[in-house]
Amino acid sequence: MARNGAHSPQSHAIYPGSFDPPTNGHLDVIARAAIVFPTVTVAVVVNPQKRSPHFTLDEREEMLRRCTSDFPNVRVDHFRGLLADYVKRIDANVIVKGLRVVSDFENEMASAHMNRSLSNVDTMFLMSDSNYSFVSSSLIKEVFLQGGDISRYVPDVVLEYMHQKRSTHGRK
Ligand code: PNS
Repeated sequence: MARNGAHSPQSHAIYPGSFDPPTNGHLDVIARAAIVFPTVTVAVVVNPQKRSPHFTLDEREEMLRRCTSDFPNVRVDHFRGLLADYVKRIDANVIVKGLRVVSDFENEMASAHMNRSLSNVDTMFLMSDSNYSFVSSSLIKEVFLQGGDISRYVPDVVLEYMHQKRSTHGRK
């Protein structure tokens, strides 16, 4: 952002996440960020802190590349370590996050303050589409692995990967 508040033509947004797997909620945020910012980097964290990922880093990146191939200003990358360091390394101007429900806000507010303190880069929030306010990667996996229909909540590519993973790893 320029100092006078106008958008810099070089605005480069980062949308970070685990994307394990990407959902339609993620895709909606990416599509909307791609309208606002000239460049959007979707950045997959290498080791999600919460758990061992269901999909490998390569799989998560590949799914995102295939889902975002229609957006010429969206690129997919990955990072290790601190988001604040990665943001500085690739010279991004803003972090984009989606907010689904009020409870997301408390964690996200602390992260936004911390990332700004570490990198001087602001976080901008997009309210998730209300159709996806209850959709999370972890719920998607749980519903799928218990035999539920997740086709409304994930891109077709992701559904393919979910089926493939199940056929190669049994119930996993
Ligand atoms: O999709 P997620 O799991 O909610 O994404 C969380 C993510 C990747 C944005 C967050 O865990 C992160 O930024 N991890 C990198 C490590 C880091 O910078 N931690 C301090 C955050 S203030």
